Amino acid sequence: MKQIKRIMGIDPWKITANKVEVENRRLQESLTSIGNGYMGMRGNFSETFSADHHQGTYIAGVWFPDKTRVGWWKNGYPEYFGKAINAVNFAKVSLLIDQSEIDLAIADLADFEMALDMKQGVLTYRYVVGGVQVVVERFFSIATPELAVFRFSFEATDGENHDIRLESVIDADVHNEDANYDEKFWKTLKTENTSDGSFLISETVPNLFGVEQFTVLTKQTFKGDFHCTNQESLEDQVIDYFEGELKPTRPLNFEKRVLVLTSRDYQTLPELTKVSEELSQEVNAQTYEQLFTAQAQAWAKRWELADVQIDGSDEAQQGIRFNLFQLFSTYYGEDDRLNIGPKGFTGEKYGGATYWDTEAYAVPLYLALADTAVTKNLLKYRHQQLPQAQHNARQQGLAGALYPMVTFTGIECHNEWEITFEEIHRNGAMAYAIYNYTNYTGDETYLANEGLEVLVEIARFWADRVHYSKRNDKYMIHGVTGPNEYENNINNNWYTNTLATWVLKYTLESLQKYPREDLKVSQKEKQTWEEIIQKMYLPEDETLGIFVQHDGYLDKDLTPVADLDPKNLPLNQNWSWDRVLRSPYIKQADVLQGIYLFGDHYTMEQKRKNFEFYEPLTVHESSLSPSIHAILAAELGFADKAVEMYERTARLDLDDYNNDTEDGLHITSMTGSWLAIVHGFAQMKTWNGKLSFAPFLPEVWTGYTFHINYRGRLLKISVGEKVEIELLKGKALKLDVYGKTIELITNYVTETK
Ligand code: BGC
Repeated sequence: MKQIKRIMGIDPWKITANKVEVENRRLQESLTSIGNGYMGMRGNFSETFSADHHQGTYIAGVWFPDKTRVGWWKNGYPEYFGKAINAVNFAKVSLLIDQSEIDLAIADLADFEMALDMKQGVLTYRYVVGGVQVVVERFFSIATPELAVFRFSFEATDGENHDIRLESVIDADVHNEDANYDEKFWKTLKTENTSDGSFLISETVPNLFGVEQFTVLTKQTFKGDFHCTNQESLEDQVIDYFEGELKPTRPLNFEKRVLVLTSRDYQTLPELTKVSEELSQEVNAQTYEQLFTAQAQAWAKRWELADVQIDGSDEAQQGIRFNLFQLFSTYYGEDDRLNIGPKGFTGEKYGGATYWDTEAYAVPLYLALADTAVTKNLLKYRHQQLPQAQHNARQQGLAGALYPMVTFTGIECHNEWEITFEEIHRNGAMAYAIYNYTNYTGDETYLANEGLEVLVEIARFWADRVHYSKRNDKYMIHGVTGPNEYENNINNNWYTNTLATWVLKYTLESLQKYPREDLKVSQKEKQTWEEIIQKMYLPEDETLGIFVQHDGYLDKDLTPVADLDPKNLPLNQNWSWDRVLRSPYIKQADVLQGIYLFGDHYTMEQKRKNFEFYEPLTVHESSLSPSIHAILAAELGFADKAVEMYERTARLDLDDYNNDTEDGLHITSMTGSWLAIVHGFAQMKTWNGKLSFAPFLPEVWTGYTFHINYRGRLLKISVGEKVEIELLKGKALKLDVYGKTIELITNYVTETK
């Protein structure tokens, strides 16, 4: 049985706590992160907290190229590791009650409560200390993304008068915990106190790589019952001091409103300053209630389409809502320059950069839960970066385009060679996303235009990266890492070879349909691609009836995970890397990832045999793993396994399954619980442009309901004793339910199988 660590309470719409987790504060901070796509922060207290924690505020698209640090430099290495950097800390408000400073790590707090309200997008905590009840509410506005609001309410609970002082700080003296050379990434350009508050302008320090430097203006203004007693403008800080007299009959409110503007939107300092003033006036003309209502309404609108309702398990319900909430807090498609970092605004690990996770795991969800423009923006992001992807291929002495494993600009910027960098399978995911979009939406214009430009270059990369083995009369791909990062530099990873072959095929077919003279694909080039398709080596074991993960895999000691003493898990925290690499244990879906992507290419028998062989050897130590297994298990009718995997993906962070949530949330994996329910339990498929469902109801639930957008329609799918599919918007539609074709005009009801 897997160890879990659950520190937050269960509630269908909230993440709750009734104590300050001094020992597990980092974990609690991760779980109470909030954001609005433009910026976000970990659930740090505004007040002083002197025990171990991780102060983290992040602004989308603001990053730094941290010079690569390796022992032995290899040609082809990326020069820097890009990082979404810890930004200016603007949440800070030191609190003094009757002249003594409140330190939440040691204060004697009564009635502590904390709740992240996912329905409305607000984090609240309250406590009583020294005869005063303090309630702190914060939200990052969706209506005005540059705005973060912090409201403090004070009430005397002991019938006495109290002296309350607040020191509201913007602090640019911040560090990144994972800086390669322990450098600071910010320098302050200006600090200033104004009649309505203070502001600070900071800039990322110069870098060696010609990457743009970012300028950020952070401004604080105030509302409420306190009066300002002093202001300070220091080297890296601005501080506004406030005082108020709290009487038993008169509660006090204090509001800190923060605006953050960056050079991503406003290039010059005068422009930044001017816009910040205008925006500040606009925002300050509104009451807290007005700002909050706009926030609650914006979330209500998101939930209307995206919510998945689960009956019969509050834990499962909380899990999926938490995941959707955190995913949308990171990315809702408003800005086509942005993408989805694996840790979003909740931590530094993985650098907040773009990974293949987006194409492989996020695109299917956004296709169904957002306007098609959102997915198109994600695709365009890669199209815009085609020149950089070509550069990456040249760096390796190869033709075509190699999309990066980790990036901000399209240039590869991760400094691990075997893991990550050798995972060239990512290039296939970029192509697959184009197919996925086209197949799901029925809109072929993207494919015909930008899509083909990307596909042709990816195809050229694969055609150059394969080599011909004379001995076998086969094309092969050596020296790669598959999605399973627990074995590196392998030969003939079935997943990679399969994907490469598919890219060549799909590109040829698409060119046939939409000829593009301008892309100059010669007949000879096409013939080469055909030949590679015909002769690609795809390792298979006929006796076992499985695809072989890579050359040599079957010669390992194939002892299943279940036979390991659980104290060895997670392997990556208990075993030497040598032991991990030699072991048969698989970090995340590899062969099964391919079977999931190309579900319509394989028979049920093939799927079953591969699943039964590989899943018992999989440790699911990547957060991306359980969802794919849940989907396949559901398709194969392995209900218990599907539910186990759902729980693992849905509550991965809430239950800290991999013992690493303190570093931040697994944002890109958060699509997993939705995928597990919709692609898994409900068996929604869009194979060959046809929508189909074959839902099953897990025994532990009494029902579940979700919505999807599909080709201009809005559908509601409810699964209980019966399956009901309702057409809420759009024209009648033909679809398959349990293999039977129906025409959906208003709704369709059938028994659940
Ligand atoms: C996974 C990769 C993934 C990365 C970022 C790693 O642990 O193995 O597949 O791209 O995390 O989420």
